[in-house]
Amino acid sequence: MSSVNTAIQLITREQAASSATGLATGASTCSPALARGPWDYDLAEALAGVPAYGPGASVADVAPASTPRQGQLPEEYKLASDAELDLRIRAAKAALGDRAVVLGHFYQRDEVIEYADFVGDSFQLANAALTRPDAEAIIFCGVHFMAETADILSRPDQAVILPNLAAGCSMADMADIDSVTECWEQLEELFGTEPDADGRVPVIPVTYMNSSAALKGFCGEHGGIVCTSSNAATVLEWAFERGQRVLFFPDQHLGRNTAKAMGVPLEQMPMWNPRKDLGGNNEQTLLDSRVILWHGFCSVHKRFNVGQIEKARAEFPGVQVIVHPECPMEVVDAADSAGSTDFIRKAIAGATEPTTFAIGTEINMVNRLAAEYPQHTIFCLDPVICPCSTMYRIHPGYLAWVLEALVRGEAVNRITVADDVAAPAKVALERMLAARP
Ligand code: 13P
Ligand code: SF4
Repeated sequence: MSSVNTAIQLITREQAASSATGLATGASTCSPALARGPWDYDLAEALAGVPAYGPGASVADVAPASTPRQGQLPEEYKLASDAELDLRIRAAKAALGDRAVVLGHFYQRDEVIEYADFVGDSFQLANAALTRPDAEAIIFCGVHFMAETADILSRPDQAVILPNLAAGCSMADMADIDSVTECWEQLEELFGTEPDADGRVPVIPVTYMNSSAALKGFCGEHGGIVCTSSNAATVLEWAFERGQRVLFFPDQHLGRNTAKAMGVPLEQMPMWNPRKDLGGNNEQTLLDSRVILWHGFCSVHKRFNVGQIEKARAEFPGVQVIVHPECPMEVVDAADSAGSTDFIRKAIAGATEPTTFAIGTEINMVNRLAAEYPQHTIFCLDPVICPCSTMYRIHPGYLAWVLEALVRGEAVNRITVADDVAAPAKVALERMLAARP
């Protein structure tokens, strides 16, 4: 099976030909702009003066003004052929040897993953950084919050590098430190700060790994904790032992799906809209709540719907439907199972009989699993090819650029979390590590 990138190039070419010949093609992408180099969007943002996420699932999300932007990639890397970039990346990696380690998230394009020394989910990659204390540089082919976490957990002298600074996460950007602090102040005014007879404080903040270091720091400072999609239930249990309720940000879906599976009724999970007073709730609703859900979501996982699952079940009787818990509740309820990216990978790896799997997560990962496990039939529930906009911003050209700079002794695109943020963020991350079953 060809990579997502190659498939997008083919579809775009066929669509251009079909508009000339009038012959329709089967497959489609959510944006023909995906066939272009991500540097076109670095330039477009610089010219427009406003940041954007670029083509892909988050294209319509509004990027905050503070979103990091990528400067211009030197022309030689934009013009280099795939074969030239391949040679240059391999030569730079060989020259650096153990001094550099390349990490790749499951959602990266295959053309980047092939150079990764470790491939995994956001949590595994944060730990992978710890397993290479000798490496002077950690090149993180993923998104901004993952690189920040690696910086917090790695040694201070290790440089964490994000090949394209515009590789953020639209969901992480939906909660910022000012809005969360304002929410917290309103909640403290309503609930007070005194623990109940069992010693449980009124509210515990829980942030998804997909959040800025500032929010992880906020949790560290306010008795809270970080979770990932693989340990969210364990973390919520930890929080309920210490608090009467939880403020969960930024992903409403992970919070709702996890708490619902633990038996929390939906009416005790109000949503907090940061643009409204009391988040758009009345006082009694908040007083009765168990989990207050921030109004955030992932635009990749929002694309999945129950109709797609019904279609898969009608066309492939016996199909196993597995989705990521960032999907809306109805989708998780209609699936056979839901879990993190690594849960999905393990479910497929563990299937002993040839099986048909319909998967609700990012297309690069689904297509790679399909290629790795040819004994199974594996496809994405979404028929339209629409990758994560920000994962897409990393391309082999940027990887060659940062690696060759390291060979010259320059750490370009270094991600550094300030000490006053990193220290409390590390507290919240370490609580998560200790809470693991
Ligand atoms: P994982 O934590 O499973 O790697 O997921 C990260 C992510 O961004 C999912 O959309
Ligand atoms: Fe963020 Fe969604 Fe992309 Fe994951 S898939 S990095 S949550 S936008």
